[in-house]
Amino acid sequence: MINICVLVSGGGTNLEAIYKAIENGDITGAKITRVISNNKNAYALERAKNHGTPAMVVSPKDFENREDFNKAWLQAIKEASPELIVLAGCLVNQPEAVIREFKNRIINIHPSLIPSFCGKGYYGLKVHEAVLRRGVKVTGATVHFVDEGIDTGHILAQKAVEVKDGDTPEVLQKRVMEEAEWVILPKVIGMISKGEIKIGEEA
Ligand code: GRF
Repeated sequence: MINICVLVSGGGTNLEAIYKAIENGDITGAKITRVISNNKNAYALERAKNHGTPAMVVSPKDFENREDFNKAWLQAIKEASPELIVLAGCLVNQPEAVIREFKNRIINIHPSLIPSFCGKGYYGLKVHEAVLRRGVKVTGATVHFVDEGIDTGHILAQKAVEVKDGDTPEVLQKRVMEEAEWVILPKVIGMISKGEIKIGEEA
């Protein structure tokens, strides 16, 4: 059984997809043991509570400086003793101390086909706005290891999604979530829990 700590900032639809995959047996041998958010208003916290998962907020607003926040953020994760950390709609750039402590044990879901439309400033709806501005016909989502960069870690899975005429950023975001994010994130977690994807030093 691997313990998973999920880091969130928003609606938590990717978190919900993981719960669903555990409940329907698509993911075996894994349990979400803690959900942590930097945003006290994140609906993802409500979802965690509905599933009986201990949830907590570590908000930068509650600390005098970023260094103190970083220490508290790392401490909150370490207390959960996770084998795997999942960034599921988490907008916190992980402190270097977290990346070091959990090398190749942190995965992220990004709503584009990396290396397109990723890096600084590309998150949430902004990704889909840029996709529509550029006029690409195919987009999608990517699951990757988190390293010191932004969206630069080793790619673990990707899934393509068609961009349709008349798409708005909101419509496209929903399609990418439904057809790609909510599929490949649980899939990768399932492969990790079965040892088909190595994590930690073995990766
Ligand atoms: C989504 O755009 C997702 O691609 C990105 O964060 C946003 C919110 O995800 N990673 P969620 O509903 O909070 O899982």
